[in-house]
Amino acid sequence: MKVQEWEPASAPESEVAAVIDLLNAAGEVDVPDDPRWQVDGYRDYLCCTMPGERRACWVTPDPHEDRLLGQANVLLMDDIGVIDLIVHPEARGKGVGSALLLAVARRAHDEGIPSLGVEAIGETPSIPFYERHGFRWAYGEIRNVLDLGSVDWLKLGGMAQGIGSGYRVEYYPGGPPEELFAAYAAAKESVRDNGDGDLDLRPSSYDPERLRASLATLHRRGLKPYIVVAVHEPTGDVAGLTEVVVPRPRPGRADQYDTIVVPEHRGNGIGRAIKARMLFELRAAEPKLAEVQTWHALEKDPMLKVNADLGFQPDREWREYEADVPDLLRKLGPSLA
Ligand SMILES: CC(C)(COP(=O)(O)OP(=O)(O)OC[C@H]1O[C@@H](n2cnc3c(N)ncnc32)[C@H](O)[C@@H]1OP(=O)(O)O)[C@@H](O)C(=O)NCCC(=O)NCCS
Repeated sequence: MKVQEWEPASAPESEVAAVIDLLNAAGEVDVPDDPRWQVDGYRDYLCCTMPGERRACWVTPDPHEDRLLGQANVLLMDDIGVIDLIVHPEARGKGVGSALLLAVARRAHDEGIPSLGVEAIGETPSIPFYERHGFRWAYGEIRNVLDLGSVDWLKLGGMAQGIGSGYRVEYYPGGPPEELFAAYAAAKESVRDNGDGDLDLRPSSYDPERLRASLATLHRRGLKPYIVVAVHEPTGDVAGLTEVVVPRPRPGRADQYDTIVVPEHRGNGIGRAIKARMLFELRAAEPKLAEVQTWHALEKDPMLKVNADLGFQPDREWREYEADVPDLLRKLGPSLA
């Protein structure tokens, strides 16, 4: 079995299509209810990263057929690499995944990155796979999915209006305007490092510079951002915010990563109102959108109630795992040498 490095930026379209076929073959088996990926926009999705970060990719071609047995990529950040690894359902249990993982671990080692993290989807073989390779379970979340076809828009309209006085709700397709950057980043900073153990595998922006870079990267990757904020009128502070991205290579399902209500503004209906307003805006702006997915911590999370009120249904657990690169190489290297 041959693991070879793959350069999505210069790869022919047929190779990008082969990766999409692999992702969709795995998706059919592992997450049958998830929408499938499409070639359009996938190259940019892989190639564009935040400044200072880079992504390395590998593929395992099938020696007998014109298809891929597996693909891995790793986003190399300052002190952690984030793994994405898929093996074709018909090629599992034969060491393809482990061989790809070794390529990832070697690269992290060569670049001086001490640990690797991964977001593994519950009820898929990735859970036993990463545990078998000694990854530690660091953080857990429940994914929730809202089917836009099931939304009671009248009820939702009431929620969008049900916000305490002294707050103004604003909608910004594409990202917040420059003049709101400082207040926006300050709202994010207010809930940073809340000790929940999250490995920070997804980008977030706690200062205006990083926010600017992060929005530019989202656009280049084909992840269209939508923002709704609640502004506290007496101070001009951002009291709450919610962010959604709609990925070009998977336009049927949007990701709602971050919804924050600044602690001193909680209890005013802000969380529900901004998420409700977001759904109205998405319905108008994204005609192909069928579902929105979001995540909440396994522990008691105030967002749980908000999500349930809006009609989100708990779907399955997602787990963040982490491993030290030297440990991984010690275990994987000799067995696959
Ligand atoms: C997880 C995955 C990468 C494993 O690939 P693989 O090539 O089958 O893995 P390997 O053959 O290298 O297995 C390595 C070890 O992992 C463990 N493992 C892998 N799959 C397992 C399973 N289904 N059940 C139990 N253990 C498993 C085994 O212990 C195995 O070692 P052993 O055979 O020596 O005991 C593959 O199943 C996959 O692509 N899953 C994708 C799941 C996913 O995220 N889907 C959603 C997005 S589409």
